[in-house]
Amino acid sequence: MPEYDPLADLYDLEYTHDYDVPFWLALADREAGPVVEWGAGTGRIAVPFAAAGHDVTAVELSGEMVERAKEKSGAVEWIVGDMRTAKPGRSYGLAVCAFNSFLCLLGVDDALMFLANAREHLAPGGLLGIEVSSFSPEELVDPPGGPELRHDFTCDLPEGRLDRFSVSRYDAASQLMQMHLFYGVYGASGELRERRAHGLKIRVTGRDELDLMLRLAGFEVEAVYGGFAGEPFTAESDHLIVLARKS
Ligand SMILES: C[S@@+](CC[C@H](N)C(=O)[O-])C[C@H]1O[C@@H](n2cnc3c(N)ncnc32)[C@H](O)[C@@H]1O
Repeated sequence: MPEYDPLADLYDLEYTHDYDVPFWLALADREAGPVVEWGAGTGRIAVPFAAAGHDVTAVELSGEMVERAKEKSGAVEWIVGDMRTAKPGRSYGLAVCAFNSFLCLLGVDDALMFLANAREHLAPGGLLGIEVSSFSPEELVDPPGGPELRHDFTCDLPEGRLDRFSVSRYDAASQLMQMHLFYGVYGASGELRERRAHGLKIRVTGRDELDLMLRLAGFEVEAVYGGFAGEPFTAESDHLIVLARKS
């Protein structure tokens, strides 16, 4: 079962941010179309692309995520498939792989397979944008007493609230981070309605590894940013954004 299937009903409650959307929209306005988003979730970015008039295809592994996305807009072409192997059958001027979808590829071979597929679906001179979280050293080291339970957030629901706690463990040898997420859904009077636990695994990558993989896959890295206002990438950056052109 795709990892995100059991989380699909919570995804839009957890991730309400849209600070990255203007960056991707500006890129779509600048570059040739059409646009493809790889690992598009519930359309957090693909739906605004379509609303802005872009011709957009969205590829997503989780059928449950796609079901939710389709309720938001009929203007996106959705493909339930694996970004390593999905064949939309078109060429794109811009490809986007945002908000850690790239980190869901758990090995270098998976990442290279995706980059080859993304390149195959770009028109000559087409651009691929990848954005992943940039983790600080503290986030990748367990505290002296072992991994700690963290309160990630509490958010309001139409009736009640949602709490999320998590424990993460990073293995520096494999660059894999195993996250255990614990959800509590509470009703309007504070009564516990549902408890849920879920595991998610990502593979952390850094600027130079990503740059090297892109070069190996036949891309030329055009820009590297540390934020959505085009800030330089530094050790303090929360984001790593790489724009690479099909060479
Ligand atoms: C953190 S979410 C990001 C979703 C979206 N890009 C956004 O900005 O909200 C990661 C998404 O990548 C999808 N994903 C993971 N592995 C994938 C794969 N091999 N092919 C396609 N989608 C994948 C997951 O199902 C999930 O929806």
